[in-house]
Amino acid sequence: MLTNRVKGVEYAIREIAAVAHEVAKSGKQVYHLNIGDPVFYDFPTPEFISEALFNASKNGKNFYVNSLGVVELREELSKNLKKNQNLDIGADDILVTSGVTEGINFIVSSLIENGRELLIPGPSYPLYINYTNFYDGKPVEYELDEDQGWEPNIEDLRKKITDKTQAILICSPNNPTGVLYGEQKIKEIIDLAGEYDLPVLSDEIYDQITYDKPYVCPASLSKDVPVIGLNGFSKTHLVTGWRLGYLYYHDPENKLEELKNGIAKLARARLSSSSVAQFAAVDILKTPSNHTVDMVRKLKERRDYSYDRLRRIEGISCVKPNGAFYLFPKLDLTELGKWKTDKELVVELLKETGVCGVYGSGFGNYGKGHMRLTFLPEKEILETVYNLIEDFLQ
Ligand SMILES: Cc1ncc(COP(=O)(O)O)c(C=O)c1O
Repeated sequence: MLTNRVKGVEYAIREIAAVAHEVAKSGKQVYHLNIGDPVFYDFPTPEFISEALFNASKNGKNFYVNSLGVVELREELSKNLKKNQNLDIGADDILVTSGVTEGINFIVSSLIENGRELLIPGPSYPLYINYTNFYDGKPVEYELDEDQGWEPNIEDLRKKITDKTQAILICSPNNPTGVLYGEQKIKEIIDLAGEYDLPVLSDEIYDQITYDKPYVCPASLSKDVPVIGLNGFSKTHLVTGWRLGYLYYHDPENKLEELKNGIAKLARARLSSSSVAQFAAVDILKTPSNHTVDMVRKLKERRDYSYDRLRRIEGISCVKPNGAFYLFPKLDLTELGKWKTDKELVVELLKETGVCGVYGSGFGNYGKGHMRLTFLPEKEILETVYNLIEDFLQ
């Protein structure tokens, strides 16, 4: 009965959660280092943000709203893009979505069919692979080079452009590696996209979660190459469950007109994204607050601690992440000896110790032989977790 399209959908991040559920049922404590959701840990939604949502509903904003997004919100987002990235993006070039997830769905469904290709970073956030396959396209991974601190390998990217390529996707700060692309590499990707007349898609969900290096916005480096930015409120404003995001078109030469109209049609077909979340978001953007800076300060300590513990473990090496909240250590399976694949190791680690990471092969071909761990939990939990990992591997 079920379509092959749906049978093919895989999502390692949620799949490992199902194993964790079984382990928890057996009475064992599970340490969740698999979930990229700060609200699940000790980063509660700030009170003024919860109140904004409550007020929006109390003030009667409970109706269907403009399919492209509430105008006041798009205007605030436009001002923010100017203030933070010096981009001139009008409210008409912004579309409010139910999370970056819906934005990716809109773009991929509008660009991909019948074997068309999307160039995505490898290792890759699984959603890019899933949607591209779902729409009968081919996800093509360009290498993020671990030996070069997970910087994109531009030669590899160039080699993989074909006459079926529809766009090049950038995800910086990156999930799963936790690394920001260097400014020079972003410039090179934009130049390459210009050479082949391709748009750039930029997943910017972690743009405000950076540690040692400042964030570089791809659109701000592009004079004429169209860049579609995808961003949202989930991580920065600690409202993952609200499902609120947006995409914006940086399109100096109006090359995206047809695509924009197509995506607007899709947006109208799904009526609107959450009205109350959108009205609340207007308040959030207008209220000065340090909650993101505070979160990043706490996270930086946890990153430093986790990285320090990880790199002392034999059989593991890890590039230090400078954004997002993930570590993506390499597992030297030959040295570790006992396990044939990353999945085997990660599942056994979970069953034996309760420590739940995500196996790297869930992030595409380049993820093999790795595992992804968040450093979101409190230091005391991280301490227990790394003691358990150390004992398990030794
Ligand atoms: C790279 C990346 N993009 C998009 C998303 C999903 O964002 P949203 O909650 O806005 O749908 C995530 C969530 O973990 C992510 O890591």
